[in-house]
Amino acid sequence: MSDAFDVPRLEDLVAAFGGSLEGRRILVRTDFNVPLRDGVISDDLRIRAALPTLKWLQDQGATVAAASHLGRPKGVPDQAFSMDPVRDRLAELAPGVDLLENLRFNAGETANDAGFVAELVEGFDGYVNEAFGASHRSHASVVGPCLTLPSVAGRLVEKEVEILGAMRSKPKRPFVAVLGGSKVSDKIGVIEAMAETVDQLIVGGAMCFTFFKAMGHSVGKSLCEDEQIDTAKRLLDSGAPILLPSDVTALGPDGADVRQMGRSLPDGWTGFDIGPGSAAEFGDAVMDARMVFWNGPMGMFEDPRFAGGTRAIAQAMADTYAFTVVGGGDSAAAIAEFGLAADVDHVSTGGGASLELLENGDLPGLEALRAAAARLAR
Ligand code: 3PG
Repeated sequence: MSDAFDVPRLEDLVAAFGGSLEGRRILVRTDFNVPLRDGVISDDLRIRAALPTLKWLQDQGATVAAASHLGRPKGVPDQAFSMDPVRDRLAELAPGVDLLENLRFNAGETANDAGFVAELVEGFDGYVNEAFGASHRSHASVVGPCLTLPSVAGRLVEKEVEILGAMRSKPKRPFVAVLGGSKVSDKIGVIEAMAETVDQLIVGGAMCFTFFKAMGHSVGKSLCEDEQIDTAKRLLDSGAPILLPSDVTALGPDGADVRQMGRSLPDGWTGFDIGPGSAAEFGDAVMDARMVFWNGPMGMFEDPRFAGGTRAIAQAMADTYAFTVVGGGDSAAAIAEFGLAADVDHVSTGGGASLELLENGDLPGLEALRAAAARLAR
């Protein structure tokens, strides 16, 4: 395996077992970290996304067990993070696939403890990483099995890596990235990496207030990371092709008055969305692009008064002729909520993982698979 975007695949697993998986026991690391509301799964995309691999393995005669984390329990069993709802849904969608209990009920998972890895792989002949969304974590179940078992990527990981890899190494131009969300500190790595490759880097969401303050604007009560102001200044001065909103939608001190404003906000006002002018301008940039990557909402879209910016981006993503990728997390939730998920080319199942892959060009889970393939080839 020569580069980060070249991972061993299911066919390599068959070859490792002499041409058949009949009777083999395969452990599949999935990312079934699905959103739950009152114990009910509100979006089962991550379960459905793993089905082609699970079914393919079953069709090849393998006995399949899936393993995933759910939420962030603290290394001990915790009923609030039980896999039961996922187990029930999986039983409907992929009968016969076993599901282990939440991996993070054992502190060895996040600590990548060798003893926990040994427990996990016990009784299995091969390993499939189908957890793209967790492949940026050097956790026991992501990297550990690759040390001893023949290990490959599932179809979903293969597809995610191919699509995000192409965005990084063979972008179609104009290539536009739309980054939103609240914190510059969360996105600074990917902003810096993408500033090098994209033709236009649109920054929306509450992140823009840190940039506005760096430009000398008053931001009222809007979320602003003062400790990131120097970073924002440096980026603005670097000549990176950054496009910031020219207007915002803000909430007044009385908590009821909603107005459109320019970049400077009076005392007591809080910006919660980009304004309609910016929404139109950003939408045009998406329409004129040939490739677009979007991660992070433009505003607090859960509140209809502040959903306009995010909706405009989602609509432009759906309408443009460009190749469009939504980078997981809140933006994936937003495009699904607006009913437009089917109109983009790819909705990544990994929020943090897709950003880290674009930023670093590799992920620990992918490195581990390539190392396993190199070991098998020797
Ligand atoms: C995700 O939801 O992004 C993945 O499942 C990873 O979860 P984590 O951030 O808790 O590791």
